[in-house]
Amino acid sequence: MDFELKTLSLPRICAEKCDALIVLVPDGMAAGSDAISKLAALAIASGDFETKPGKLLGAYRSQGIAATRLLLVGAGDASVKSVKAAVSTAMAALKGSPARRVLIGLSALPQLKPETVRCAVLACDHACYSYDATKSKPAGQKLARVMIAVPALATSRAGFEEGVGLARGVALAREWANRPANHATPTLLGLAAKELGKLPNIKVEVLGPKEVDKLGMGSFAAVARGSEEPLRFIVLHYSGAPRTQAPVVLIGKGITFDTGGISIKPAAEMDEMKFDMGGAASVLGSFRALASLQPAINVVGLIPACENMPDGRAIKPGDVVTSMSGQTIEILNTDAEGRLVLCDALTYAERFKPRAVVDIATLTGACVIALGAVRSGLFSSDDALAQALSAAGDSSLDLCWRMPLDDEYAEGLKTNFADVANVAGRAGGSITAAKFLQRFAGKFPWAHLDIAGTAWKGGPAKGATGRPVPLLVEFLLGQVLPAGPVARKRTVKKA
Ligand code: BES
Ligand code: MN
Ligand code: ZN
Repeated sequence: MDFELKTLSLPRICAEKCDALIVLVPDGMAAGSDAISKLAALAIASGDFETKPGKLLGAYRSQGIAATRLLLVGAGDASVKSVKAAVSTAMAALKGSPARRVLIGLSALPQLKPETVRCAVLACDHACYSYDATKSKPAGQKLARVMIAVPALATSRAGFEEGVGLARGVALAREWANRPANHATPTLLGLAAKELGKLPNIKVEVLGPKEVDKLGMGSFAAVARGSEEPLRFIVLHYSGAPRTQAPVVLIGKGITFDTGGISIKPAAEMDEMKFDMGGAASVLGSFRALASLQPAINVVGLIPACENMPDGRAIKPGDVVTSMSGQTIEILNTDAEGRLVLCDALTYAERFKPRAVVDIATLTGACVIALGAVRSGLFSSDDALAQALSAAGDSSLDLCWRMPLDDEYAEGLKTNFADVANVAGRAGGSITAAKFLQRFAGKFPWAHLDIAGTAWKGGPAKGATGRPVPLLVEFLLGQVLPAGPVARKRTVKKA
């Protein structure tokens, strides 16, 4: 989607030619003499329209309005959340319409903040996304251009640009997560990462089975054994700050299909396990956003990518493997494979002497039971890091909820046959998974996001959500250190 920011007052919006005009109408909108204000006031007085977030009133070739179609949409208290609901509903109402050029008018919103503009751009792009990578006839997106009208550029520009960069990242994450496993193999994920490597300040290395063996990643390699598809270990670098600045490391679970392995999953809804690389997709999406936004930080992305398949060579319950950290692991359930690939990536992260490591994984069904589809599970041994991630989730409307990590939860991971088992009992399943990971994250501040409930939607609207890219990008932007006297000059073009 092509976005443009324009300064337009309500009277000017009335005179702007476009295929569809969406005007956000907040509670108690100031009376005006322009056609939109009059129409809104009249419709509210007659009971045909309400300013509750998402309430709609449509008109065609309205008098005094140059746009062909007009949609008034309630924006309630004009909070970021209400604006998100308003833009989402209005854009959904335009689905299938022949409109190509759309104007979204935010000029009636009181004290418009950059976050509101950012959120409007993101919500609009989200509503326009259509998956067609594996369709013979693409849905054919008619919408080509969206103009966002604001009362003043100065206060909206930064939010607008953040919104556009973030939207690109979210769309990339959704696209890769949505692709079926035969169109999103570890090899193809590696190539997608390589593409990102062409963007400014991004470098990408992709390691294969030989290199992974050489690194001693015996746990990751064990999961990949059952598949004909060769594993990939993807390393992305975003360098926006001097090399001396310690990076933040993002680790994304990249199981491109999770059958469960020998501990095989039931058939019902197994197709949804193509989304088991949602963590990896969110790392790719975050890097796409970094390329656009060019913040002054360093970020490393790590993606252990493979399939989890049953096979003559596959790992069996009871097998013991040696992780890169040297710790031995008894694999009691081959379906608890996410933690087995993540633990080696966590050990690999040590070499970057990171200021923080955040892993993102569709890790446990138990997390879906605990938190549903509203909030991702947040686990961290570091209060400041947990606080920063939690706040980033709140302000980007990509919520998470902190879960406990008491040592008592690790009791069930004890075994007579290795240093640690890969599963404990059913109770507290998302926490015992996090306790397993924590054993490999002792050398840096660490947080884990369990996105099993939030990375995709099931049912008729089945599809990837792009979460938690907004949370991650918000968190990363907050990691930019205040500019000192030797602030680096940035001459790189944005992507
Ligand atoms: N990828 C799944 C987690 C998952 C399941 C996400 C359902 C979303 C919906 C993960 O690899 C897995 O299978 N976890 C097991 C762990 C168990 C064997 C301890 C689970 O949650 O059942
Ligand atoms: Mn599994
Ligand atoms: Zn899995």
